Amino acid sequence: MVDQAGKDVIIKARGVSVQFGAKKILENLDLDVRRGEIMGFVGPSGAGKSVLLRTILGLNKKQAGTIEVFGIDYEKASDRERLAVERRWGVLFQHGALFSSLTVLENIQVPMREYLTLSPKLMDELARLKIDLVGLAPDAADKYPSELSGGMIKRAALARALALDPDIVFLDEPTSGLDPIGAADFDELIMTLRDTLGLSVYMVTHDLDSLFQACDRIAVLGDRKVLVEGPLSKMLDYDHPWVKSYFHGKRARTVVLDDDAAGRPRPNGAG
Ligand SMILES: Nc1ncnc2c1ncn2[C@@H]1O[C@H](COP(=O)(O)OP(=O)(O)OP(=O)(O)O)[C@@H](O)[C@H]1O
Ligand SMILES: [Mg+2]
Repeated sequence: MVDQAGKDVIIKARGVSVQFGAKKILENLDLDVRRGEIMGFVGPSGAGKSVLLRTILGLNKKQAGTIEVFGIDYEKASDRERLAVERRWGVLFQHGALFSSLTVLENIQVPMREYLTLSPKLMDELARLKIDLVGLAPDAADKYPSELSGGMIKRAALARALALDPDIVFLDEPTSGLDPIGAADFDELIMTLRDTLGLSVYMVTHDLDSLFQACDRIAVLGDRKVLVEGPLSKMLDYDHPWVKSYFHGKRARTVVLDDDAAGRPRPNGAG
């Protein structure tokens, strides 16, 4: 699948509608996510960002529309195809990032046990590689989530999302609750993984720094659909009250000004 810009499309959603009871959450939503990009999703709280993510993963029912991931419509796929798709994505959910009764090592091995048949020794080795990959110290392997800081939990959850060497990871608010430096480190890590592993990243975030620094493209969810989708420059030019106040608000300006101070290119149309 390629889009109009000739880019390889990894997720293609068309006309997607989701409602719970009488309450419409998403209506006739279209979306493309391209291979190898970090796509950031923003929108007001309750707009349906997590619902959309869960719908793509087949965890919420949709009332209309089609979603293809890697060219496969998960809803219509055979069990075999579904399994193949599930092995190619990793997920870090907004809530309940890790199982509290399992160590970090055991948490990372959960998807391995579910989808692969590997010897315990090999699973240990692979899990330790993931721990290293996300920048955790080796001794984190035997710790329980309650013994970790918030930032370490996010990294461990990312390690679990990477357990099966996925093509795409879905991250729902991965930097929420982290201090700005911890969040910036996490963004760096995501960018490194994109560059070294060719990973595609679907990232829901409220973090303006993440959007400005890490995301290749951004989609704004509002009015039950994707309001606008594209690079940061497009967001800055877009005429919609929420988009304007979000990207041109006081906090957004600070981020853009900080960028200038660091000598980074100023996005088109900023300020
Ligand atoms: N399983 C469900 N049953 C009924 N309503 C639901 C369900 N899941 C989500 N909703 C509703 O769908 C709407 C969108 O929720 P969602 O969690 O997607 O918001 P969000 O954009 O992720 O918000 P936040 O930024 O706060 O995480 C909310 O009104 C929520 O109450
Ligand atoms: Mg959410």
